[in-house]
Amino acid sequence: MKQVIRTVIVAMLVASVGTACGDKTSSRGNDEIDRKVEALLSKMTLDEKIGQMNQITSGGMQIYVTNQIKSGGIGSILNEIDPLVVDSLQRIAVEESRLGIPILFSRDVIHGFKTIFPVPLGQAASWNPQVVENGGRVAAIEASSVGVRWTFAPMLDIARDVRWGRSVEGFGEDPYLTSVLGVAMIKGLQGENLSDPTAVAACAKHFVGYGAAEGGRDYNTAMISTEQLRNIYLPPFKAVAEAGVATFMISFNEINGIPNSGNGYLATEILRKQWKYDGLLVSDWNSVGEMQNHGFVKDDAEAAIVALNAGIDMDMENHVYAPNLKQLVKEGKVKESQIDDAVRRILKLKFQLGLFENPYVGKRESVFYAEDHLKKAKEAAIESAILLKNENDVLPLKESVKSIAVIGPMADAQHDQMGTWVFDGDKTHTVTPLAALRAEYGDKVKINYVPGLNYSRDLDKKQFAQAVAAARSSDVVLFFGGEEAIMSGEAHSRADISLPGAQKELIAELAKTGKPLVLIVMAGRPIEIYKELPLVNTYLFSFHPGTMGGPALADLIFGKAVPSGKLPVTYPKMVGQLPLYYNHKNTGRPAQDELPMIDNIPLEAGQVSLGCTSYYLDAGKDPLFPFGFGLSYTTFAYSDLQLSAQEIKTGGSIKVSCSVKNTGAREGAEIVQLYIRDLVGSVTRPVRELKAFEKVTLKPGEAKTVEFTLTADALKFYNNKDEEILEPGDYTLWVGPSSAEGLETSFVLK
Ligand code: NOJ
Repeated sequence: MKQVIRTVIVAMLVASVGTACGDKTSSRGNDEIDRKVEALLSKMTLDEKIGQMNQITSGGMQIYVTNQIKSGGIGSILNEIDPLVVDSLQRIAVEESRLGIPILFSRDVIHGFKTIFPVPLGQAASWNPQVVENGGRVAAIEASSVGVRWTFAPMLDIARDVRWGRSVEGFGEDPYLTSVLGVAMIKGLQGENLSDPTAVAACAKHFVGYGAAEGGRDYNTAMISTEQLRNIYLPPFKAVAEAGVATFMISFNEINGIPNSGNGYLATEILRKQWKYDGLLVSDWNSVGEMQNHGFVKDDAEAAIVALNAGIDMDMENHVYAPNLKQLVKEGKVKESQIDDAVRRILKLKFQLGLFENPYVGKRESVFYAEDHLKKAKEAAIESAILLKNENDVLPLKESVKSIAVIGPMADAQHDQMGTWVFDGDKTHTVTPLAALRAEYGDKVKINYVPGLNYSRDLDKKQFAQAVAAARSSDVVLFFGGEEAIMSGEAHSRADISLPGAQKELIAELAKTGKPLVLIVMAGRPIEIYKELPLVNTYLFSFHPGTMGGPALADLIFGKAVPSGKLPVTYPKMVGQLPLYYNHKNTGRPAQDELPMIDNIPLEAGQVSLGCTSYYLDAGKDPLFPFGFGLSYTTFAYSDLQLSAQEIKTGGSIKVSCSVKNTGAREGAEIVQLYIRDLVGSVTRPVRELKAFEKVTLKPGEAKTVEFTLTADALKFYNNKDEEILEPGDYTLWVGPSSAEGLETSFVLK
C-alpha cells in the first residue's frame, strides 16, 4: 500500500521549528526577567557594568582572576571545565562580589563534549534534523554537568570552498539545509527551556560571511555583494534568530573593506533593527582588538568605540572594553546608555539560564558516555556516512567473504577519528573500525590488520610489502584513509586537499593485487580522490565520525546498517575547481554537455574552436559528485511528480507530490530533495535552489508519496538594492535524489 508523507512547509520552517525551540519564554516570564534586570542594573556602578561585558579565558584560581571577580570585573569565563574550580569561582562571584552576579561559564562544545558525534559537516550529511538535535542535546547534558552553560555552536557559515579548514564546522554550502540543521542543533543545545539545568545557551556564529574567505585561507577577506549576503550567507542566521538562539558571535573577517566587529550595518541594522533580535552578541576571540591589524582603527580605545557602536555586547578575550570604556564614557565618546543596553542583554541571559537561583554545579552523577549517548552517537555516525561508489556491490560484504585485510592510517586512530574541535573527548573511549570489526565481526571473518602507514601524513613505505601481503591473503581489502583531525578546523586550511602522506601510493599498490578494494575516508572535508577512485570498487566517505565511528562503519560494512547520507557540499574533482557549489549562476555562456577536454583538443586548434563556454579544459564543468548525492545498498525510483496547480499566487502555495519506490532488495532510507529555478530575475538567479527535503525509509518494493508545500514566500529573494522582492514569472521544479537529477516540471508565479 502506498503511504503519503507530508513534509514541512518551506516558508514556515522557522515559525514551526521556532515555537519548539524552548527558550521563547512566555511573555509573562520575560516581563518578570526584564524587571529583575532593570532592578539590578539600577544598582550597578559603571565599573560593574563594564565588568559584565568582559569575558576572559580561564586562569583557574589565580589571584588576578579571583580579585577581578570580587570587584565585579568579569562577566563570563571561557574554558573552565573543572566543576570544583567552576564552583569556587562562582562562589566568589555570588558571595564575595558586591552585587553577587553569577559568572557565565562557556566552552566550545562543537560536536560533543565527552561523547563525540560526527563533525558538524558529517552530521549535515544525514540531512536529518533529529540526528543534529540529538547531538546538541547529548553535548548539552554532558557539558552542563560540569558547569558549562554557554557554548559557541552552531557554526552557520556557508562554505563554498572546502580548502577552508572550517568548512568542517558548519552544515555545508546550502542556506536552506544549514537553516534547518542550525535550528535543530539549537533546539538540542538549549532544550525545552534555558532555565533547565541541562540547557546550554547556543551561539550562532560567525556572523557573517566568514566562509567566503578568499581562496579558503582562514580569516581572510570576503567580498560579498548585497544580493549574495542576503540570499546565501544571512538566511541561516535569520532562521536561528527567529527560532530563539540565545546568542550570536561576530566573525573575524571583513566584508567589502569593513571588519565585521566594527560593522554596525550587520549587527545593529540587520540583526537588531530588522530582525528584532535581542540576544547577546559576543565578539570573536580578540576580533575587536584585531581591527587594528585590519588597518581599520588606530588603537584599543578606538576599537572599543567602533565595536560598541557596531553593537557588540561582550568582549571575548580582547581586553579592550574593560580597560577603555570608563574613560571613553568620561570623554563622552561612548554613552553609558549603550553600555546599559549591552549589560541588559548579558544579565537577561543569566536570569534566563537560572544562574541567579542555581549558580553552582554541586555534586553530580557522571553522565559522560552514557549508554544512550553512545547509541545516539552511533546512529549519527551511520547516517553521516555517504556511499559514493559501489562497483559490483562489494559492500555490504557477502557471506562468502571469509577474510578481510584492514589497512590504512585511520583504521585504528582513536584520536583522529574524533575530528577537529575536540577539547574534552577522551580518545580511550573512541571505538575505532578495527576494534569494532574485531569485537562485532571477528567471529565471522578473519581480520588481517596492517596499518601500512601509521598516520595520515606518514611517508614511510616500510610497511607497504606487509600490507600488500595481507591484501593478497584476504578476500576483500578495506583501506581506512583520510586526514588527521588537525588538518581541518580553525586555521587549518589546505591548498592540496588530496590524501596526504603516502596513502595514494599505498592504494595504488593494494589495487594491483586485484582484490576487491573498499576505500573508507575519514576527513573534515571532501578529499580530492579522482585519481584513486578508478582503483577502488567502493568509496564510503564518513567524515570524522566521532566516538562511535568504528561500530557505525562496521555495521555499514557488514550490512547491518544501510548507508543513507547525502553530500551537504559539492564534491570537487580537483582542488582547482574551487570554489564550487551547486547553486551557482548560469552565466552568459554555460558549459555544454559535450565539452572538448585537454586530451582531445586537436593540435593547433583555432582560438574559438572550443565552444567558448564556462568550464575547465582539464576538469570539465562537473564536480566529481554533486551536492545532495549519495548511494544506498538499495535503489529508489521516482515517479508521478504532480503539482496541485500550475500557478502560485502571491501569498499562496502549491502542493508538490512525488512517488518514491524502493526498487531494490533491502530496506533503506532516501533523502528526497525539492529544487527550483527562477528562470528570469531582475538580478540573476541560481541554476537550482534547494527548497525542501524529506528523508523516507522504505521496505523493499514499498512506495510512498512524498508531499511538499511550496509557498510563494519561499520564492522571495533580495536584489542589490537590499530590497526583498517577489517577481512573477516562470519556474522549473525538480524532485529527485540529488542536485543534478530529478523529475522535472514547471510552474508560474503570478
Ligand atoms: C575563535 C573561533 O573563531 C570561535 O569559533 C571560537 O568559538 C572562539 N575562538 C572561542 O574559542
